[in-house]
Amino acid sequence: MSGSAGTPAWQALGALAAGTRTLHLRQMFAADPRRFERFSVEQEGLLLDYSKQRVTAEVMAALHALWETAEVPGWIARMRAGEAINSSEGRAVLHVALRESQPRTEVRAVLEKMIRFCADIHGGNWRGSTGEPIREVVNIGIGGSDLGPKMAAQALAAHHLPNLRVHFVSNLDAAHLATTVARLDPRRTLFIVASKTFTTQETMTNARSARDWIVAALGETAVARHFVAVSTNLPEVAKFGIDPANVFEFWDWVGGRFSLWSAIGLPLALAIGYANFERLLAGGQAMDEHFFTAPVARNLPATLALLGIWNTDFLGAETLAVLPYSQSLEQFPRYLQQLEMESNGKQVGRDGLPVGAATSPIVWGEPGTNGQHAFYQLIHQGGRLIPCDFIALRRADFDLPGHHAALLANCFAQSEALMRGKTSEEARRELESAGMPADEVARLAPFKVFPGNQPSSTLLLPRLDPYALGQLVALYEHKTFVQGIIWGLNSFDQWGVELGKQLAVRLLPMLEGRQPTAALDGSTQGLIAACQAK
Ligand code: F6P
Repeated sequence: MSGSAGTPAWQALGALAAGTRTLHLRQMFAADPRRFERFSVEQEGLLLDYSKQRVTAEVMAALHALWETAEVPGWIARMRAGEAINSSEGRAVLHVALRESQPRTEVRAVLEKMIRFCADIHGGNWRGSTGEPIREVVNIGIGGSDLGPKMAAQALAAHHLPNLRVHFVSNLDAAHLATTVARLDPRRTLFIVASKTFTTQETMTNARSARDWIVAALGETAVARHFVAVSTNLPEVAKFGIDPANVFEFWDWVGGRFSLWSAIGLPLALAIGYANFERLLAGGQAMDEHFFTAPVARNLPATLALLGIWNTDFLGAETLAVLPYSQSLEQFPRYLQQLEMESNGKQVGRDGLPVGAATSPIVWGEPGTNGQHAFYQLIHQGGRLIPCDFIALRRADFDLPGHHAALLANCFAQSEALMRGKTSEEARRELESAGMPADEVARLAPFKVFPGNQPSSTLLLPRLDPYALGQLVALYEHKTFVQGIIWGLNSFDQWGVELGKQLAVRLLPMLEGRQPTAALDGSTQGLIAACQAK
């Protein structure tokens, strides 16, 4: 077995978990006034408070032993040395090379091309085919070619340059492209077709329709001024008809969900300016440096990863709620869904054997305070164990009087409530002191009880600028890597997305009435027949 399940370090954690089952976070805080100092780590203003996780010093020590057992430092070295640690695809995993302060030659060449392109678009040297300046950029991509730049462009809205708007189209549903271009002037619109493989059905279908839209408005010759591409597959880009001079290359050693730092970040660089994009890279690089050098006990990605393993494999949590108290980070949970679930939502280890442990939790979430009025009820009283990552900003990116302190108060109140809960005694006293008659108190008290003991971490960012966002994204990337190593997974392939893609190719001619459906199961046949019925 390639993972750590079943090792003595794993078994030691199992024994500790059995011992901590009766412990309540409320007691842990009461017993240790220094719990916050003991269980928090800070790196360049990025503070991780994990004192509200159900851990003791002993548990943390055992988790650190697991890090050694899994030989995580050795795997970090192998990744950095460019070994083909994406073993099923025979590829190196070198997204960290994209944000090195002295990038390798091929990386530097593409970054320089991005710098020139941003300057040309912003300075009006690159114009549309009728001579109009570009004012709208539409990124067509999906998965890793969409989620990262889309998340970051929203997160950094306070840093956007004037006179240029970026849009993201990903869904195969024509509604996405149609409603986006309906608001745009083709003369001022540039499309970026972003696809690592340049074969993805959604992206190629949207790109063809976007091309038709441009050609219908401006003619065939306009394509060269209104389309650029970002891809590793230069021959396919050429077949699509995009001038090789307008292609921003990246490489097979950059995984799609780790590609924000490559030319996949082009729409972001256009939105915030290249200097800000460089700050994002610098923030990512600073987190790399920290991850590579800090001892495990002070290492932010390691800590986040090990807490996740504890919650998932030893306390039995099935999900992870990511709750940014920042509207600008609205897309962050969606971004993490791909990063964590596509990387580690697997049961077969690197060696082809079952991993024998629960792997990636179901990652989900919404910004606070919106989520408080939707699903928090279940987190508080639904009886399930739901670890939460709260993310908050010390300083607001958009500041209006009265907003930010109230937002932070809600964030901290939620993690406090989840930790403490409310006993039936407290609930009764509260009702009594409000002057309620005894029979009413008895009737209502059960509804007012909160079990608490719900584990959470709080990440406090100094502010939401490109540098801090770079730190945050790299933090979760490395967390995902560490968890994959401990579970014995290859976090860099995604075979699980293939079956559905294959079947969709098979079903298309049947939906179009060109092939019989007789060989299909009854449900799929019935659904197709229902769509074909007049
Ligand atoms: O969902 C599968 C996947 O291969 C992702 O890993 C990837 O990010 C996405 O599709 C898009 O792929 P491409 O960039 O090749 O279009």
